[in-house]
Amino acid sequence: EKSGYDTFMEKEINDQPHAVADTLLGRTDAEGNLTLDELHIDVEELRAVTKIVIVACGTAAYAGMVAKYAIEHWTRIPVEVELAHEFRYRDPVIDERTLVVSISQSGETMDTLMAVRHAKELGARTVSICNTHGSTIPRESDAVLYTHAGPEIAVASTKAFLAQITASYILGLYLASLRGTSYGRDAAEVMAELQGIPAQIETVLAGMDRVKEIAYYMADSRSVLFLGRHVGYPVAMEGALKLKELAYIHAEGFAAGELKHGPIALIEPGQPVFVIVPSPGSEHGLHDKVVSNIQEIRARGARTLVIAEEGDEDVVPFADEVIRVPHTSPLLAPLLTVVPLQVFALHLSTAKGLDVDQPRNLAKSVTVE
Ligand code: F6R
Repeated sequence: EKSGYDTFMEKEINDQPHAVADTLLGRTDAEGNLTLDELHIDVEELRAVTKIVIVACGTAAYAGMVAKYAIEHWTRIPVEVELAHEFRYRDPVIDERTLVVSISQSGETMDTLMAVRHAKELGARTVSICNTHGSTIPRESDAVLYTHAGPEIAVASTKAFLAQITASYILGLYLASLRGTSYGRDAAEVMAELQGIPAQIETVLAGMDRVKEIAYYMADSRSVLFLGRHVGYPVAMEGALKLKELAYIHAEGFAAGELKHGPIALIEPGQPVFVIVPSPGSEHGLHDKVVSNIQEIRARGARTLVIAEEGDEDVVPFADEVIRVPHTSPLLAPLLTVVPLQVFALHLSTAKGLDVDQPRNLAKSVTVE
C-alpha cells in the first residue's frame, strides 16, 4: 500500500503531482472554459455574492489563506479566512449574499462542520471543498467541489493541501469568469498554467536529496523559523506546522514584513530560518524586499535556508542553502514552495526516529469540538 515507500507520508508527498492533476481533471470544456455544473448552485446566486468567508482548521486553513490572495485578485469579491472554531463563537456578519466556503480533507472535522451549520443558520450559501466523498461536511453543504487527492492516510496533511489550493483556485476562476472580472489574465490562461504544475512538482521532488541531508544534520535543532510574504506567508506557517507536528520542534511562521515589528529579536547566531522568496518577476517589488530580509537576518547570524526560483541569483550571497523551485506566476508558487518544507519535516522526523505517519497526540480527523 505504501508503493515501496517507507511511510505513507513519503508516498503522499510523492503523489502530489497526481493530486493536483486529478483535481484539475474534468473541470474545463473543450475550449478550456471552466464548467462547474457539479456545484449545483444557481449561477445568479453566485453572481450576486458580495463576500466570501473561508472556514477551515490547520493545514486546510492555510490553504484558505493562500486562496484568499488569488480569489480576491481574480474576482474582486472580499474574502475572509477564519479558523472554523473561532468563526462559530463570534457574531460574524453573514447574510444570503455571503458564500461560506469550508475546506476539509476528511469532511468530518467537527469544528468546521459546526461553522458550516452556523453559516447556514445565518442564511449563507455554503460550498464545501472536500477530499472525502459522502462525508458529513459536503452532505450538509449546499454544494461541493471535491479535491481528488485520493485517500490521505498519514496524519499530517500534504497532498490534500495542494489539492485544496487547486480546487479553491478553480472556484475563484469560475466565479471570476461568471462575473466577467478577469483581472490580469483570463481563467483559461491560469488553468493552462495550473495544468503544468504537476510536472513542475516532479522537478521539485527530483531535487530533494540536499533537503534530506539538511534535515539530518539539523536533527538537534530546538527552534526553526519560517518567513514568507504574500502567498508565501501561509506557506511559511504550513512549513512550521509540519515541523511541529512531525518533529516536535518549536517552529513558527512569520510574514517577512513583520520581522522588524518584533520577531527579528529572536535572531541569534545559528538560528535556522527558512525563507520563501517570491519570484523576481513578482509585482510590487516583493522579491527585493524579501532578499533584504534575508540579508538582515544573516547579518545577525541566522542560518538562512532559502527557497528561491531557478535563476534567482540575488539570494545567493546571503543564503547558507538555496533550494530551487521552477518559475511560476506568483499566485501559483505555493504549489511548489511548500514541497521542500514537507520533505524537510518528513526527514527531520525520520532522523529523530519518530513515527512519521502517526505523530503523538494527534488523530487524522478531529471529530470533537
Ligand atoms: C495538519 C493537519 C491538520 C488538518 C486539520 C483539518 O497536518 O493534518 O491541521 O489539516 O485538522 O482537517 P480536515 O482537513 O480533515 O478538516
